[in-house]
This record gives sequence, structure tokens and C-alpha cells, in this order.
Amino acid sequence: MICAYPCVSACPVKFMSMRSEAYLTGVATKTKGTKMGRKIDLLANYPKTRRDVKDRGATKTEEDRSIAREFGKEFFDGDRKNGYGGFSYNPRFWQPVIPTFQKHFGLTASNSVLDVGCAKGFMMYDMAELIPGITVKGVDISEYAIENVVEVMRPHVQVANAKDLPFEDNSFDVVISINTIHNLEKDECARALQEIERVSRGGSFVSVDAYRNDEEKELMYAWNLTAKTIMHEDEWIGFFEDVGYTGDYYWFIP
Ligand SMILES: C[S@@+](CC[C@H](N)C(=O)[O-])C[C@H]1O[C@@H](n2cnc3c(N)ncnc32)[C@H](O)[C@@H]1O
Repeated sequence: MICAYPCVSACPVKFMSMRSEAYLTGVATKTKGTKMGRKIDLLANYPKTRRDVKDRGATKTEEDRSIAREFGKEFFDGDRKNGYGGFSYNPRFWQPVIPTFQKHFGLTASNSVLDVGCAKGFMMYDMAELIPGITVKGVDISEYAIENVVEVMRPHVQVANAKDLPFEDNSFDVVISINTIHNLEKDECARALQEIERVSRGGSFVSVDAYRNDEEKELMYAWNLTAKTIMHEDEWIGFFEDVGYTGDYYWFIP
């Protein structure tokens, strides 16, 4: 299984955060339009793998990318050149991360969380295990992933595109989206961020592909299999502001 979430740099403090409110009041309340989110690595405890991103990029063809972007069986459980090369549950991936989400957002049994790009529901499953009673829902564009979701999460997932979330405004306390919305073209990615903003009544967190210099940019384009919107981290921050996304965020940088 691929590890896609490296630990990069510490966050600056120039943006106001909802986190301090979360500590005081449980899940943060937000005042839309009046705040910026915060750059914070909530995936710092996700296990790292030793991976030669240059080698992986070198073996990729446009056909590989096109197969991967279908997000079907080949992407999850097919050949490694088209995706994960076998996508199965292992508690060692998300269980160390859930306490970070829990503390950051002040999550309790009374809260609700949406995972946009939930795949087979592994993060959802671990969140429900570690925060008993919490409401967790998920959407994914992949019919294959949703058909093969971890069984106990089946009633809580559906096929949907991040750019058009099938929920009322302010439906969830927290919306999380890991390495998903960058798979859309830039205008649709903007729409997805606005959808996350719309359905969240509290906090949100997205992680997206980014780079900070030319070397990282080159590595990113070599490594990337599915993303269609990849930007410098400063461009992402400007983009969040332009589209009105006020949640928290972090990057995947190869
Ligand atoms: C990095 S994986 C998410 C992993 C997942 N959170 C877990 O617990 O294992 C990204 C997911 O985004 C999904 N995806 C890609 N484009 C999407 C879109 N436009 N809308 C919704 N899901 C999308 C893919 O099918 C894939 O399952």
C-alpha cells in the first residue's frame, strides 16, 4: 500500500486558526468569510515509506496515468504502475493519525465527520473505532472503492464527486479530504473547496499535492499519477483565499 503523506515543515503562525477555539468549545464554530485556515500537518503521524519517487515516475506512461485516473480496480488493486498495487486495510496507517484529528478538532461522540475521497473507508473505520459513537460519512468518485468498502462502513458511504457533494449546507461538524481534490482540474478543484466549505459547519482539513521549489516541482511531476491541479504552496494559499476556503490544509510534497 502506498504511503502518500510525508512529514514536511512546521507551520507558520501567520494565519488565524480554528484550533484554539476547538480546544475551548469542542468542534470549532466558524464565521464564514472572516478567517483563513491554517497550514498544519495533521498527517504527521501517518507512517512514512522509503520510496524512490524518481524511479516510479520514470516508469510511468500516459497510459498508466489514464488508467489510474479511472479510479477503478486497476488503481486500487491492480498493477503497481497504475496505483496502489493492492489497497487493503491495515490499522498501522490511520490509527496513529486519528488522535491528531481528534485533538485538533476537539472531536467527541456527538460530532459528525465527512471524508471526501474516502476510498474503501479505512480512515472512517479507524475514526469510528477510536471515537466510539461519532458519526462518520464518506464519499468517493470510485464505484469500485465504494463497492469494496470495509463492511461496517457500507451504510455510511456513497459514490459522489467532491465538486458536487450530496449534502445540505452545514451538514457536518468537520470535513476531511486527503489527497483527493487535486485530482480535479483547477476550476473543479475550486468548486470542491467551496463544497467542503458549504457542507462544513465547523472545521475542515484538506491535503493536496504541492511544491516549494523547482526540484520539488520536478519530483512531483515525475511521481504524480492522478493529480490535475498541482501548485506551489504559496499559490495554493492564494487559491484557498480566492475561492473562499477557510479550513485548514497541508501538502503532499514528494
Ligand atoms: C488518497 S485516496 C483517499 C484515502 C482514504 N481517505 C482512506 O482512508 O484510505 C484519494 C481518493 O480520492 C478519490 N477521488 C479522486 N477524485 C475524486 C473526486 N473528484 N471526488 C471524490 N473522490 C475522488 C479516489 O477514488 C481515491 O479513493
